[in-house]
Amino acid sequence: MYTPVVVPSYPVSKRIMLLLKSFFTSYKIHRMKQDRKRFLKQLGSGLLIAGLPGIASATNNIASVIDQEDFAGEGAADDEKFWKKVSKKYYKVDDGHINLENGYYGIQPKPVLQSFQKNIEIANEGAARFARKDFPVISSAIKKELAAFLNVADEEIIITRNATEALNIAIQGYPFKQGDEVIINQLDYFSMIEAFRMLEKRGKIKVNAFEMSLLPSGDDEIVALYEKLITVRTKVILLTHVSNINGLIVPVAKIAAMARKKGIDTITDSAHALGQVKFSLPELGSDFVGLNLHKWMGNPVGGGVLYIKKARIKEMVPLFGDVDAAEDSITKLAHFGTTPFAVIMTIPDSLAFQKMLGIERVTERLHYLKSIWVNECKDHPNVEVVTPADQHLSCAIASFRIRNKSAVDVADYIFKQHNIFTVRRALGKEGCIRVTLVAIKACAG
Ligand SMILES: Cc1ncc(COP(=O)(O)O)c(C=O)c1O
Repeated sequence: MYTPVVVPSYPVSKRIMLLLKSFFTSYKIHRMKQDRKRFLKQLGSGLLIAGLPGIASATNNIASVIDQEDFAGEGAADDEKFWKKVSKKYYKVDDGHINLENGYYGIQPKPVLQSFQKNIEIANEGAARFARKDFPVISSAIKKELAAFLNVADEEIIITRNATEALNIAIQGYPFKQGDEVIINQLDYFSMIEAFRMLEKRGKIKVNAFEMSLLPSGDDEIVALYEKLITVRTKVILLTHVSNINGLIVPVAKIAAMARKKGIDTITDSAHALGQVKFSLPELGSDFVGLNLHKWMGNPVGGGVLYIKKARIKEMVPLFGDVDAAEDSITKLAHFGTTPFAVIMTIPDSLAFQKMLGIERVTERLHYLKSIWVNECKDHPNVEVVTPADQHLSCAIASFRIRNKSAVDVADYIFKQHNIFTVRRALGKEGCIRVTLVAIKACAG
């Protein structure tokens, strides 16, 4: 019997920020040694959480693990009691280090993980009979549920293995004509840039790149930067909804509206947006959007989504060979072969947990936590924060660099000396260090 579960959260306490602050201010960190013990102890009990799903088709035992009362009516951004309670009860993470690199993938809440484990067993025990008879029915119900969550029709989405796959289907399947031009910038995700560059190398399109401002003053400046690069040949603008490099949030709806007036399409990379910031797919106004389920939605690794507006499906060319499906059916783009059954089966639980936590609550908490560390270090003469402070322009992700230091060295140093795990991202010559507040219990206790 299929049993769905629930989902994710991303904690980090104020103390983690103090730890970072201490790094920024002293840059030597000796005193951390003593403080660290105390810190980690406090941290162990000061977690955050970011997303609870709802239990869509749940049968019971796992669903019964979740007490909806735990999520009722509390959870202000600074309500440590609430976040601690939820974190403790619903998350289990490695105690050996402080994880401030939650941008790779999100930790599953315990109930979701349990559901996933159960789903693995179901698929394993049922084998081919399960896959051929039960799974098609289950997955079509799940697709409907996911589409409803995303406010679109189920004929407009396919479940992929990740955002890279989703966006490659959109980029490589887009009906470009010889000489068409595409606009990208340095904050776009490298895999999507690669996909466009590959098309360019094959002589199909021309890629025009511009330097996105790291600290734009607002939406108008961002829209103007895109608009400036448009030529009569521009066909597509790549929009990275939330940048993986510095967390910049671009005003997708405004850029898409500007582009549409000029007959230009947008392909939107919302890999980091779903579950981190509130948005509605139809309101984005972008006809092609790729999303992830394993970053901020807390689903097991191996799930993504491609949305294509119904009216646009007909013109798309399949990346994976398929000549039998109807031209206007999105299934023509999803000829993947054997899929990760258990990952897909767990989606309803992830959605359920996410709904329970509430995107507004999660977003506010993430803003709050990020502002603590950013405010502590932004005025330090040797620290350059490369993410706008405006809540409208960034959420959980922010990045910094230390003057005259390589980002790799700084990230290594923070890890070796403080047991804080971050990641270096490519940005100009120096790179930057990305801090992503998300995971559950972020450190040793
Ligand atoms: C902005 C952005 N787009 C796309 C992706 C690709 O996601 P995945 O590796 O799950 O395909 C990532 C991954 O980090 C990302 O940050």
